[in-house]
Amino acid sequence: MSDRPAVHGSATRVELTQLVLPQYTNAIGTIFGGQVAAWIDMCAAISAQRFCRTQVVTVSIDELHFLHPIQRGHIAIFRSCVNAAWNRSVEVGVRVEGEDPLTGERTHTASAYTTFVSLVDGRPSAVPALLVDSAEELRRQAEAELRRGSRLRHRAALEAQRR
Ligand SMILES: CC(C)(COP(=O)(O)OP(=O)(O)OC[C@H]1O[C@@H](n2cnc3c(N)ncnc32)[C@H](O)[C@@H]1OP(=O)(O)O)[C@@H](O)C(=O)NCCC(=O)NCCS
Repeated sequence: MSDRPAVHGSATRVELTQLVLPQYTNAIGTIFGGQVAAWIDMCAAISAQRFCRTQVVTVSIDELHFLHPIQRGHIAIFRSCVNAAWNRSVEVGVRVEGEDPLTGERTHTASAYTTFVSLVDGRPSAVPALLVDSAEELRRQAEAELRRGSRLRHRAALEAQRR
């Protein structure tokens, strides 16, 4: 039997809630995309750290598409969890929603897929195994496998260009 520790995906869930104050908006009064990216990274890092219990570093963030704006004075909600774990890296998915504080209506703003590497003494290190408990978690894990393939091919292409 493997002595690799195992962690339930549900133990990595994080919810980060932010009021969209003026300093977080762009010139037209909606949330600034760079701020959304920073909060995505922060929320995901907490999930990755809850899973690995080591230092973690972002190694990639997949394409980020903003589907709907979030208005100044509305609420931005970030929910993340570890989708899949490999040898020394994990994928963390983050869903971003905007909430109108007067009606409670929520709108899907973006979904992001981030990859974190576990570091011990500054070097990539083994991560725990992921325990999946539901059909939903299994689906997320399978989809993460597909995304990993495309990410690693992209990285290999970038490395080949630099040579
Ligand atoms: C993260 C870092 C330490 C990884 O070191 P590396 O030598 O590039 O990576 P390795 O080839 O040893 O791979 C380590 C793990 O990262 C994964 N990885 C590397 N590049 C990746 C990418 N672009 N996308 C997804 N996974 C990637 C590898 O698959 C491996 O995971 P695995 O063992 O689970 O398969 C290094 O790339 C780094 O320091 N990058 C900068 C990170 C940073 O500063 N982030 C903050 C924002 S700028």
